[in-house]
Amino acid sequence: MLDKIKAVEVEAGSEISAATDLKSLDDLRVKYLGRKGRVAELFGQLASLPPQDKPKFGSELNSLKTRIDELLKAKQGELSVSAALPKDFVDLTLPGFKPPIGTRHPIIKTIEDICDIFLGMGFKIVEGPEIETEFYNFEALNIPLDHPSRDAFDTFYIKDKYLLRSHTSPVQARFMEKEKPPFKIIVPGKVYRPDAVDASHSFMFHQVEGLVVGEDVTFADLKGALSVFVKEYFGEKTKVRFRPHYFPFTEPSAEVDVSCIICGGSGCSVCGKKGWLEILGCGMVHPNVFKAVKYNPEKVTGFAFGMGVDRIAMLKYGINDIRLFYENDMRFLEQFK
Ligand code: PHE
Repeated sequence: MLDKIKAVEVEAGSEISAATDLKSLDDLRVKYLGRKGRVAELFGQLASLPPQDKPKFGSELNSLKTRIDELLKAKQGELSVSAALPKDFVDLTLPGFKPPIGTRHPIIKTIEDICDIFLGMGFKIVEGPEIETEFYNFEALNIPLDHPSRDAFDTFYIKDKYLLRSHTSPVQARFMEKEKPPFKIIVPGKVYRPDAVDASHSFMFHQVEGLVVGEDVTFADLKGALSVFVKEYFGEKTKVRFRPHYFPFTEPSAEVDVSCIICGGSGCSVCGKKGWLEILGCGMVHPNVFKAVKYNPEKVTGFAFGMGVDRIAMLKYGINDIRLFYENDMRFLEQFK
């Protein structure tokens, strides 16, 4: 008799735990606890036992009934929760997946860091088109059609008089045509030149242009603003020097060198043993540029500068190949926060 009780309990246990819906669970209740069910059947067999065994098996059967009833109730609880859930139920208590967080591209980071310093000096950011006309890219900047200096700004022509701007300086002319001095602007953006691509050349790169125009703007203001920029960006100890140079749209013109940020000025392979690195071109706005935008060069003066962002980023982060910026290798890009 005990064996039979045990066998019914095992069988009921496995059938109940395998039930997948409330209907089959109800069938199991009938099968085991119903009036003609398996437990009732065992109760029926009590009658044929010797009187002294009846109380023991009677109480065994009662507790079997209780245990099966508990299993049925537990399973019923489980099934009615999942039956109540919609098919597309989302368990909000599960731990989520963390989306990978992107990083700023090193060129964007460099542009933002450069612009931040000039914003701190009261400049405002202005942008202009990448598809330009010969007029803004050259003529308005005192670079006549047949002038050899056009070679220095080798250019992608599109058609007619349209081209891809070879520097950000055309935005100087566009801005001055519309606005009156005094003002201080910086112009970040992409520029294009048909250079063969190698470790230090790319046919598309970035510049930040600066232009300050007012009544008494002097070369001393130019030196002051750029010295502040260099020390803030490269560090207080960095030395700055202005070397005479030529640009058609500025007079006088200069190139700015900083003491090599790799070797500190003692000479290394990055600065070619010179101890200095050239980072930008600048000068006092040429009177012909003012005339082209209908400003009176007797009344206003100004300074302008243009820096190569890619080169500055390479120096700042010790990158030896400009192509790394444009290959989208995540292992490279993820290093910049
Ligand atoms: N436009 C020049 C270049 O691309 C840089 C420059 C800008 C120089 C403004 C002087 C003044 O090389």
